Amino acid sequence: MSNDHGNNGGNGNGGNGGGNGDNGNGKKMRRSEHWFGGTSKDAFIHRSWMKNQGIPDDSFDGRPVIGICNTWSELTPCNGHFRQLAEKVKQGVLQAGGLPLEFPAMSLGESNMRPTAMLFRNLAAMEVEESIRAHPLDGVILLVGCDKTTPALLMGAASVNLPTLVLSGGPMLNGRYRGESIGSGTHVWKFSEAVRGGQMSQAEFMKAESCMSRSAGHCMTMGTASTMASMVEALGIALPENAAIPAVDARRHTLAQMAGRRIVEMIEENLRPSDILTRDAFENAMRINAAIGGSTNAVLHLLAIAGRVGVDLSLDDWDRAGREVPTILNLMPSGKYLMEDFYYAGGLPVILRRLGEAGMLKRDALTVTGQTAWENNRDAECFNEDVIKPLADPLVASGGIAVLTGNLAPLGAVIKPSAATPALMQHRGRAVVFENIEHYKARVDDPALDIDADSIMVLKNCGPKGYPGMAEVGNMGLPAKLLAQGVTDMVRISDARMSGTAYGTVILHVAPEAMAGGLLALVQDGDEIEVDVAGRGLHLHVSEDEIARRRAAWEAPKAPASGYAKLYFDHVLQADKGVDLDFLVGCRGDAVPRESH
Ligand code: FES
Repeated sequence: MSNDHGNNGGNGNGGNGGGNGDNGNGKKMRRSEHWFGGTSKDAFIHRSWMKNQGIPDDSFDGRPVIGICNTWSELTPCNGHFRQLAEKVKQGVLQAGGLPLEFPAMSLGESNMRPTAMLFRNLAAMEVEESIRAHPLDGVILLVGCDKTTPALLMGAASVNLPTLVLSGGPMLNGRYRGESIGSGTHVWKFSEAVRGGQMSQAEFMKAESCMSRSAGHCMTMGTASTMASMVEALGIALPENAAIPAVDARRHTLAQMAGRRIVEMIEENLRPSDILTRDAFENAMRINAAIGGSTNAVLHLLAIAGRVGVDLSLDDWDRAGREVPTILNLMPSGKYLMEDFYYAGGLPVILRRLGEAGMLKRDALTVTGQTAWENNRDAECFNEDVIKPLADPLVASGGIAVLTGNLAPLGAVIKPSAATPALMQHRGRAVVFENIEHYKARVDDPALDIDADSIMVLKNCGPKGYPGMAEVGNMGLPAKLLAQGVTDMVRISDARMSGTAYGTVILHVAPEAMAGGLLALVQDGDEIEVDVAGRGLHLHVSEDEIARRRAAWEAPKAPASGYAKLYFDHVLQADKGVDLDFLVGCRGDAVPRESH
């Protein structure tokens, strides 16, 4: 089947490399035929070296070549099963008559990478973009799992705009500890606070470690990995059910095969990311994020992905899109269940159907199936209404991400109300300031620290430039002496991010960040700060004269002197623009690079 979606390969200087020649049979040349077609010396070179892998002659007969971009790594445990998944994708590609060729991409694992995997998201995106463009590929499947691998690969592929399909690796099975379900990340924070507050022994804490991560897959709470797996399904760039099938469920392998088959058809249909990643698709994703109680990290990643395809998405869009949407998914950290339960309850198709029926979905948004979002999901069935709640009986009446602005965050800051304490959403308190994460660690449990439950904890220099890399440290643990008193939440403000598995009244992504000279840099102990989530305000109550005096005395912390960290530091955009590198924004297309032999 052939269906031209009217796209010639990007809105930059790219074009459809396959559209500018003929292959000798009067047919349009595929992009890959610029390498593998014909009888020239160059074609000899391209084919001959490939044949050392045992690829037969007729594999180069003009059939579509599919790149399988694999983020497998033993250092990224969430993606540790991707070799098997890639084999299933290959089977699907072969069944559909394509030639699958697997290639590696920089793998970004949250649990091991320092200072933070986010520092390298844009580096991986750049690597993926150039790898796709440089090679004889007609389309790509992106194998993604751990948090940053999803946005990194999609950002890179979107800047090339070849037919692209995202396949997530799937969540781990539920953690189980002493007969209870425990969630990735969420229970680490809970248990570690319990140890610090004296309610859990160190020995029990160590026992829980093996009980949490007990199968292949990524974090099984609605953390950033599950959120981003849901986002790609909601955007329509992944197949239906991509988000929730557990990594070890046989149906994940089936989905991988179906993805392999489908990408071959997408190439024939010339169905590209720019056809799918439209404003409507982003509207759907933002609303789905509200409905699932998704991670605040999705704000940054979707802004960055939108920037790659020329969709003008803003923080205001995030605030508006989510306001009317209730959170109906009862998953940790906002609720009680885990991703395995979500799949058995019907998965993301149920949420898409519910929003579609309520007029909250752009039903006509095109997806990788060639069908619309509504056509894909209109028949979804729910099998557990306590996991996926009806819209009339939601977990949180108004989900979504609230965007706060004011003198403390002129470009915006975000909070996830569904994870916060209602009583703290309107709060005025005295700042207790930590200049950086080391200062926080050294000071938070000092018995002499002048802090109480009404104080506002302020952390500086953890933003995009500050850490560098905008680490997930915004959900600072509370002082042990307050935990021991039974305090469970306090207002916390920073330019950092927060793990999607975390919770609390945590105001994040303050922009401009302290390191870039934002007002946050000038906050001092004892300053009055006012938080008004309903009114979307965030204000520092210090006189203009005093601010001017502090600014004159302020010195920017030292910037990285060399290496990738310097490139990143010099070019990274602030949180309100998605933390992409300024020179990577936009689509540069799939034009075939010039020959080198
Ligand atoms: Fe990889 Fe959470 S650590 S998804």
